[in-house]
Amino acid sequence: MQKDDIREGTPDAPISPNGSIGVFDSGVGGLTVLREIVRALPYEDCIYLGDTARLPYGNKSRETVTRFAVKNAEFLVSAGVKFLVVACNTAASAGLDAVRDHVRIPITGVIRPEARRASSVSKNKKVGVIGTRATIKSGAYERAIHGFDPAISVSAVPCPLFVPLAEEGWFDDEVTRQVAERYLAGLATEGVDTLVLGCTHYPMLKQVIAETMGYDVTLVDSAVPIAREVMETLGEMGLLRKEPRDRRLTFYVTDDTTSFARVGEAFLGFGLDDVRHVDIVV
Ligand code: DGL
Repeated sequence: MQKDDIREGTPDAPISPNGSIGVFDSGVGGLTVLREIVRALPYEDCIYLGDTARLPYGNKSRETVTRFAVKNAEFLVSAGVKFLVVACNTAASAGLDAVRDHVRIPITGVIRPEARRASSVSKNKKVGVIGTRATIKSGAYERAIHGFDPAISVSAVPCPLFVPLAEEGWFDDEVTRQVAERYLAGLATEGVDTLVLGCTHYPMLKQVIAETMGYDVTLVDSAVPIAREVMETLGEMGLLRKEPRDRRLTFYVTDDTTSFARVGEAFLGFGLDDVRHVDIVV
C-alpha cells in the first residue's frame, strides 16, 4: 500500500524497536492524532510534545514555524523516538521537508492522508478545507488534493479562532457555534460535499462544525489514517512491539503543565499522568 507523506531519512545507527513514537503539535490538537495511535498500538511507548509556549503557530510565518518544527523534532529524537508524527497541519505544511532533513527516522505529516481521503469521498468534486491562516496560505491542501484529482474544486477558508476555542475546551458552546457560522457560511452555500478539518485541533469541534455545515457533508480528519500508517510502517520496518506490556505515555509541554493536563484529558478521553515541562530554545 502506498504510504502518504512518509519520508525516511537514512538512520546514522539502526533504529531500535524499543524506541517510542514521537508526536508533536503546538498545543493539545495533536492529541486527537495520539488518541488513535494509542488505540491502534497498545504496547508502544509514546512521547508527546505540545509547544504551548509558542502556540498558536497558525498566525506565524513559514520560516518561524519551520524553525519551531525542527527544534521540536530534534528534542523528540533526543528523547529516543523511533518514528515521528508531525501532528500539526501548520508545521507539516510549512516545514515537513526541513524536519526530514534534520531527522534520521521515519516521519509522517498530516496533509496527504486527508487530501487522499477527501479526493476519494467527494462525489460532486467540491471540497472545502479549513485550517489555520498559515496552512491555508501555504496552498498545501490544494496541491495535495489536485495531486490525487485535478478536477476537484477546492475552497479553502482560514478559521484561526477555532484553535483558542478548542484549547479553552469550548467544544459545544454557543460562542463556538457563532464563530463557526461566521467562518463556514460561505462554504455551506457553495455546496461542498466534503470538508477537510485541516488542523488537528478541529476534530474537537466536530459536532458544531457538522451542525453548521449540515450532516450530509463528510468531515475528514487525519487521525485514523495516520495511526494506520504508523502501524504499517513500523511493521514493515520490523520496529513494532508485539509482546503485551505496560506502555508509557509521556507528555512534555513548553509552558504550564496544569492547564495542558486538564484540557488534554478531554482530548484524549483519559487522564494524563506524566506531564513534564521542557524548555526548548529556538
Ligand atoms: N494544531 C495545529 C494545526 O494542526 C496548529 C494550531 C496553531 O497552533 O495555530 O495546524
